[in-house]
Amino acid sequence: MRTTNLRDLFSADPGRATNLSYGLSCGGTEFFVDFSKQSITAAVLDALVDEAHERGVLSRRDAMLAGEPINRTENRAVTHVAMRASDDSTSPARLRAEVQAGDRALRDYVDNVPTTITHVVNLGIGGSDLGPALVYDAISAMQSPVRTVRFAANIDPLDLDRALDGLTPARTLFVVCSKSFGTSETLANARRAVDWLRQGGISDLGDHLVAVTARPERVAASGLPIGTTLTMPESVGGRYSLASAVGVSVALAFGMPVFDAVRAGMRDVDLHFATAPARENVALLFGLVAWWNAAVLGHPTTAVLPYSRALSLLPGYLAQLVMESNGKWVDEHGNVLNSSSPVVWGGVGTNAQHAVFQALHQGHQVVPCDFIGHSRTLGGSARDHDALIANMIAQSQALAFGVTAEEVGGDASLRRHRVTPGNRPSTTLFIAQLTAGAVGALVALYEHSTFVQGAMWGLNSFDQWGVELGKRLAGDVAAVLGAASTANATHDNPTTQHDASTTQLVAMHRRWRDA
Ligand code: F6P
Repeated sequence: MRTTNLRDLFSADPGRATNLSYGLSCGGTEFFVDFSKQSITAAVLDALVDEAHERGVLSRRDAMLAGEPINRTENRAVTHVAMRASDDSTSPARLRAEVQAGDRALRDYVDNVPTTITHVVNLGIGGSDLGPALVYDAISAMQSPVRTVRFAANIDPLDLDRALDGLTPARTLFVVCSKSFGTSETLANARRAVDWLRQGGISDLGDHLVAVTARPERVAASGLPIGTTLTMPESVGGRYSLASAVGVSVALAFGMPVFDAVRAGMRDVDLHFATAPARENVALLFGLVAWWNAAVLGHPTTAVLPYSRALSLLPGYLAQLVMESNGKWVDEHGNVLNSSSPVVWGGVGTNAQHAVFQALHQGHQVVPCDFIGHSRTLGGSARDHDALIANMIAQSQALAFGVTAEEVGGDASLRRHRVTPGNRPSTTLFIAQLTAGAVGALVALYEHSTFVQGAMWGLNSFDQWGVELGKRLAGDVAAVLGAASTANATHDNPTTQHDASTTQLVAMHRRWRDA
């Protein structure tokens, strides 16, 4: 496939577009996934499906859904699908029963937050921020929230300052969202939030602070005056946790029925992933095509390009989902891998077209793209929405087919500059209407694609040991600076001896800070 050209593939097969496209009903709407502009053929898809069988991807899927401990480095099951399951084929009754108690507590809590609370501030980072923020932002384009939600993730004090700007303590609820309840950014922001409430004259602090965690014992140990603690299972990875109590901000903003609709959309895709025959399994194929691009064709990055303002947070969300899951140097047995996760990046169309697409069209690196759009507008002009979608379709066309020197014509000395080589692969993921369910379905589709890619590499998509070293070293440097620790709160015994560059940077910071 490295030497074949998309132009030739399309001319050779008039049925290519339809043969390599798949429909999927989910989230109360229709999805259409067009792989025809990928550097694949039907035979390549057949071979990828065979390879998936050989590498045990489907048995691994079944083991995950059955609640077996497939996260071997942490000796845990992987149960995010159970968070939204209602069916034996996606989750056994045993797992669903465990989930139901937590879910009842979530419903009970959401239904009883007084209407005097008009603002929610979600304090969380990574998976405790990106999923709820994506969904809140997307659904805000469909309906007005009952409560507005702001998100503060960074330990940069400006993040919380901005989130609190203009808010009234008596009307504000903080969600302290941290699976581990040991993430120092979140705990530092929570401590500042408590100070802000106190300074605002709030005495019943517990009514303004809810925790979401898998470690409720740490909530008590933190000393934070949390009123209610909602729990999630340890077996739900942070970046896969949207459907758990981590989504409480979404439920507080729009009500439980809307949060349920998001989860129903996820469930539709789960059911498809669990039961559809492999060669028609869109979630499986989506992951296999992504793996093909990274592992076989060797493309080091991939771009996610939503042509939808409502989905503008999707690239950032997916960057964590895919890169934290699959950015590994060894497989699950410790064998060194030749490749793993591509770098995932992207931007919202058409803005990205006017900023970074030049390199997609004429740069040296081929970047496989996911174009994502929906046919019905959420904005005020259907005509302008048509123009938006026209841009999306045209960009995938330009990337795939390019333009030759002969086609460019005109001034011979300028022709070469105008040639675009084409043969640049993309998938178009078209949605009839963006609903709350469609957003959930989209998230689940990418979750399963990430799982499939990881399983093809034979790596563990559910741990993230690589981030730990940086946390520990940040704690060491913070200790030298006398700063609030940026390391995991469980870390102690900091090292104070550092390399020459680190020592120099610490000295520089002190000099400028204290000047
Ligand atoms: O540092 C990485 C990470 O552990 C992510 O996996 C996670 O989503 C994020 O930090 C936040 O973790 P927590 O929800 O435990 O605060």
